[in-house]
Amino acid sequence: MTRQIVSVVGGKDAASFTTYDSTNPARTSEVVARVGFADAGTFAAACRTAQEAQREWARTPAPVRGRVIASIGRLVEANAETLAALVTEEIGKPYAEALGEVREIVDTCDFFLGEGRRLYGQTVPSEMPDKNLFTFRNPVGVAAVITAGNFPVAVPSWYLVPALLCGNAVVWKPAEYAAASAHAMYRLFAASGLPEGVLNVVFADGVQTFEGLERALEEGTVQKVGFTGSSEVGRKIGELCGRHLQSPCLELGGKNPMVVMPDADLDLAVEGALFAGFGTAGQRCTSLGTVIVHESIHDAFVERFATAVKAAKVGEPMGDVLAGPLLDQKFADRFEEFLTWVEPHHTVVSGATGKISASSPRDGFTGEGGLYYHPTIVDGVTPEDRLFLEETFGPIVGVTAFRTLDEAIELANLPGYGLSSSIYTTDPRSAFRFREGISAGMVSVNNSTSGAEAHLPFGGNGKSGNGSRQSGLWVLDQFTRWQAMNWDHSGRLQKAQMDVADIVPDLEFRL
Ligand code: UN1
Repeated sequence: MTRQIVSVVGGKDAASFTTYDSTNPARTSEVVARVGFADAGTFAAACRTAQEAQREWARTPAPVRGRVIASIGRLVEANAETLAALVTEEIGKPYAEALGEVREIVDTCDFFLGEGRRLYGQTVPSEMPDKNLFTFRNPVGVAAVITAGNFPVAVPSWYLVPALLCGNAVVWKPAEYAAASAHAMYRLFAASGLPEGVLNVVFADGVQTFEGLERALEEGTVQKVGFTGSSEVGRKIGELCGRHLQSPCLELGGKNPMVVMPDADLDLAVEGALFAGFGTAGQRCTSLGTVIVHESIHDAFVERFATAVKAAKVGEPMGDVLAGPLLDQKFADRFEEFLTWVEPHHTVVSGATGKISASSPRDGFTGEGGLYYHPTIVDGVTPEDRLFLEETFGPIVGVTAFRTLDEAIELANLPGYGLSSSIYTTDPRSAFRFREGISAGMVSVNNSTSGAEAHLPFGGNGKSGNGSRQSGLWVLDQFTRWQAMNWDHSGRLQKAQMDVADIVPDLEFRL
């Protein structure tokens, strides 16, 4: 029987207005869940419910909240295989990667459960005697979190876990094509004993979500918006938040470059490019966009890269494959469009392109009924090309050549994104010069462009985001606001900047 799921607000199932079928991209005729969609009114109501629940939650001592986070981690760990299998079924992510994704939730919980016993403020000396200064981190209130479905559970945990730990309530709107995975994750969070209304999940389409968010911001029930998705939607959310004097946490697209220096270990670089470009079927926001390879090794690199890609296995995601299908039909449609950006001056070096089918099989695999695509390497991309300048979510990687490291850095920054990047070199000077010059928030040396760990800052610049950072300690600044307190116990009014003792130096003094 098909799973039926609806939004959960204040611990109760909410009304739905339309339905949506979340399907298995490996066999699109299989419905993974029938999802009841809520409307803008339900989204706004969920924010009001969250606001109510947040007051008590904020008064729950942070170490106690930390223990709830610990329980979530344990629950996720105990249900890891089931949750990972559901992720694989719903978005086609290879099972081994899906397990890694679930692990990332546990890592995030492990990191933040301790933060419940820190969440440090400071005691600071005052410029006057008998006066003490302090800083406190206060929760922001209600966070509205809107997430993509390529990491349907790990990336949401980057928002949910720290937001809840800091004493906020959350309204979470997951991607519709990953709704069953999101619902399962919600249930694991709810089983931790989180009070009703502190975490709410709302399934809705983009239009209703935007309208609901606008209403909530007008009503003053949302104090922080978190969004992971396209640069285009990120801009709209940024504009909306700006009108309400809020700075959202935006994690957007990427056109992540990999520079291969002449002194690089070429086999290692090929292995990194293969995983970065075509693992997860190229559908990470950290996936490789363009390989920028030194002209002296260009031909050798392209030959080895093409050989590796031709040998890579695409297939049923429960099996041992590099890549499964694309996430959902809408991503397949968009990917078909990206393929039209291949121009006559380009050379496709990876063999067949487009959908894997009976008439275009891949190593005997016909991809019957699934959204499987041939991984594609396009050599000879130039800085004027759409393939070079724009994000192409999916299994396509461009290759271009460079002469000097400065030129490579310029090419790497040119598209104007800034999420992730990588350099393969054996010369530390090149590694540090690249780090300094690259616009990305994440830099890998001799490693693929993907694979961020849960305790380092994650986020982008330029078209990849507004400079906000998730993960580790840094995300605390998204979900708390600093409050400065001063306490004068001198028994008199001491005026700052005026009633301050002066020690007079002799500035004319010379040796
Ligand atoms: C994303 O694609 O939205 O670094 C995030 C990585 C993963 C996270 C990707 N840990 O590739």
